[in-house]
Formats: sequence, structure tokens, C-alpha cells
Amino acid sequence: MANKFDVISIFPEYMSPLALSLIGKATKAGLVDIAVHDLRDQATDVHHTVDDTPYGGGAGMVMMPEPWGAAIDQVVSNAPNRTHDLVILTPAGEKFSQAMAEELTTCEHIIFACGRYEGIDIRITDYYKSQPNFRVREISIGDYVLNGGEVATLAIMEAIIRLIPGVIGNPASLDEESHSLESEAGLLVEYPSYTKPAEWRGLGVPEVLLSGNHAAIAKWRRDEAIKRTEKLRDLTRE
Ligand code: ADE
Repeated sequence: MANKFDVISIFPEYMSPLALSLIGKATKAGLVDIAVHDLRDQATDVHHTVDDTPYGGGAGMVMMPEPWGAAIDQVVSNAPNRTHDLVILTPAGEKFSQAMAEELTTCEHIIFACGRYEGIDIRITDYYKSQPNFRVREISIGDYVLNGGEVATLAIMEAIIRLIPGVIGNPASLDEESHSLESEAGLLVEYPSYTKPAEWRGLGVPEVLLSGNHAAIAKWRRDEAIKRTEKLRDLTRE
């Protein structure tokens, strides 16, 4: 059974990059099943309204629960007998990580709810949390505010789908990555890479990489990954 993804947005065209590159190929190969839905199809008035002013006052608009509930129920009815993971994109969510991407590859059916404006009425989160066969996660891709969840969904889907067996041509590269991302070893980033030519604009390639000595290369790469990680930690220390 292919991993199933449904994306709900008021800008379904935002998701057109999903037809490209590895994700496009994975879809054609039947490794993933992706559908994008226009939230406005669920609006019931002539203007296809999906938002309203916030109770209690304040700036901005809030997305109404009715169209969201109808859209989510519809995608669920097309995926019976599955467990559903509802991912709500919001800057107020848990920070996305590689560990979360790995966990999400095990989900049978992920529904991405792309909020806009001041977000989605919180009763959508609360209601689906109480439903059987549902898990609800509020996820942020970083401490900055986007105009909506679409770009965040693209980033998260790419991080998940590339981990699905068969999607990446050379799985050894995933293996190497996961080692360099292992937090247990304290390594967060990969070593720097070089390719041909051996000299470019006066810049050479470290001798060890040309030596053919695999043990020495592995040690150099590990040392460089540690150096990079420490530098990154210093830069991001709060
Ligand atoms: N919507 C707006 N900003 C966001 C962010 N940083 N992550 C996820 N969804 C968002």
C-alpha cells in the first residue's frame, strides 16, 4: 500500500512542484499517492468564503471550521481502513526535524492542512484529536512566519518522501546521511564535498581525498563534520 498524502489548501497550484523530480517519479512509480484539494470547494456561499473575523476581536481573519471539517471528512472517506495523521502547519507548532520526517514515513495517510491568515479555528485540532484512528500534529518548519502552510508542506513532504524505500536511486547516500545526522554521536551536519576538477580558480582539493586511503578519508570526513557541527552550534547558540 503506497503512502497516501492529501494536501488541503486555498492555493492548490502552490503544490505543482510535487509533479517534478524525485517526488514526480515516485508518484509515477506508484510509491506514493498524492492528491491536492481546494478548500474553497467546501465553502457553501457564492463567494466561497473560508474565513471570518476572530471572536474577541483583533486583527486578521481566522479560517472557519466548517469548510475544514468538510474537506478533512471527504479525504478520510476516500481512505477507509487507514490511520490518519492530520498535520496542521502553523508557526505555533512543534519544530520539524529529521527525526520527525523518519517517524512520518511510517504513516499510512497524512493530511496536510495548510492554514492561511491568522490560522485555522482551534476546534479543528481539538475535534480531530478526539476522533478514532486520528493523530493530530501541529508542525512549524522554523521560527519565522510564512504567509501560509503551503511552503512548509512542500518542505516536509520532500523530507518524508525521499526516505521512502525506492524513492532515491542510491540508498547508500541515505545511509551516510543518517550517520552524519546521528545526534547520539553529536554530529549534526555532513563533511564538505569536492568533485572534479582537482583545481578550480586556484583552489585545490585536500590531499587526503586524492590518496585512496579509505581509513584516512573516513577520519578526515568525521573530523570535518565535527568541526562544522561545532561552528554551527556556536553560530546558533542562544
Ligand atoms: N505557517 C506560517 N508560518 C509557518 C511556519 N513557520 N511553519 C509552518 N507553517 C507556517
